Amino acid sequence: MKTYLVTGGAGFIGSNFIHYMFQKYENDIHIINLDKLTYAGNLENLKSVENRKNYTFVRADICDREAVNKVFAENEIDRVVHFAAESHVDRSIRDPEIFVKTNVLGTLVLLNAAKAAWELPDGTFSEGKKFLHVSTDEVYGSLEEDGGYFYETTPYDPHSPYSASKASSDMLVKSYMDTYRFPANITNCSNNYGPYQFPEKLIPLIINNALQGKKLPVYGDGKNVRDWLYVEDHAKGIDLVMEKGRLFETYNIGGHNEKQNIEIIHIILDTLRDMLPDGDPRKKLVSDDLITYVEDRKGHDRRYAIAPDKIKKEVGWYPETAFEDGIRKTIQWFFEHEEWMKNVTSGNYQKYYEEMYQI
Ligand code: NAD
Ligand code: TYD
Repeated sequence: MKTYLVTGGAGFIGSNFIHYMFQKYENDIHIINLDKLTYAGNLENLKSVENRKNYTFVRADICDREAVNKVFAENEIDRVVHFAAESHVDRSIRDPEIFVKTNVLGTLVLLNAAKAAWELPDGTFSEGKKFLHVSTDEVYGSLEEDGGYFYETTPYDPHSPYSASKASSDMLVKSYMDTYRFPANITNCSNNYGPYQFPEKLIPLIINNALQGKKLPVYGDGKNVRDWLYVEDHAKGIDLVMEKGRLFETYNIGGHNEKQNIEIIHIILDTLRDMLPDGDPRKKLVSDDLITYVEDRKGHDRRYAIAPDKIKKEVGWYPETAFEDGIRKTIQWFFEHEEWMKNVTSGNYQKYYEEMYQI
């Protein structure tokens, strides 16, 4: 039975990954979820797994060397899946420091703990151990509107404090692979959407605002392009790279679903109108008139697009969920989890929203 240390498992992608792994492997794996529970971490995301015998939650900061070392000392960890990070570009523009602390220093603490636990006296590493570092396509910078894709060989060119901190953490992982032959993979994934996504990010923010008849903030001209991936497909990609990926390699995850932000907003509005039953009072609130162009994000990357050729060829992964299906599943999930949305949008989030948007 393999023991996974999942960091940031109470966040959006981490919690989806944990659900996916228990559905697939049931009692054949043990998952230890180490999470600090920042504003973005929410144990409600994991209610249905919290009583499993093969699931353990540890509340800790990945920057806390003692706490992280203790987890490695008390458990025979086989695999690390490292999600924990500060993940929102707009927050990184307002306050970069925490991004460097968590994303860069926290990754270093984890690398050192895994290295110390897994390294043999001759400097090689125990068989079967792997550290999978979950990263983003934003490290590659921005593409021209009319062509080109991100490949694993694309030079890094991050522009936001968020992407710069993720690029730095990728470089640290790479340096451990190159220097120590530390057993790791890096995955660089495109924008995810799906259940449990915090409503500071575009898709859940638009769904939530539209259902309340609140303005829908569009940065700049709304024509920035992102390559959207349903979160479960990301979880599948991580599992496949863990199982079949060649050590020391990087894999891009995503592809073939490029959309302008304004297109995304129109798709969400149309889908909401289609899915809400006649007579539901929210149906009257969902209107194109809510679309509000606001000042552009500073340093706003124009276009991201992944070429998933390598991951397809080497481990057989491809994006399975068509956007039209994924967005319906996501909206359905939000319909069924109104309480979740109420809980995460109260208090501190409300304060952030008011300061950020002023609309
Ligand atoms: P998220 O913000 O929803 O969740 C982050 C989680 O990490 C939260 O549970 C939070 O409590 C935890 N965390 C933050 N700081 C911590 C610390 N110091 N110690 C321990 N736990 C801490 O993020 P997400 O969208 O789920 O992203 C997860 C990972 O995937 C990140 O590394 C991100 O860079 C990467 N990624 C995200 C996307 C995306 O579209 N969301 C795309 C590609 C890659
Ligand atoms: P986001 O979900 O923050 O992801 P990322 O910046 O990591 O790609 O934003 C997706 C796109 O949507 C990005 O081009 C910025 C834009 N955006 C808006 O136009 N309005 C908003 O309120 C938000 C949050 C994002």
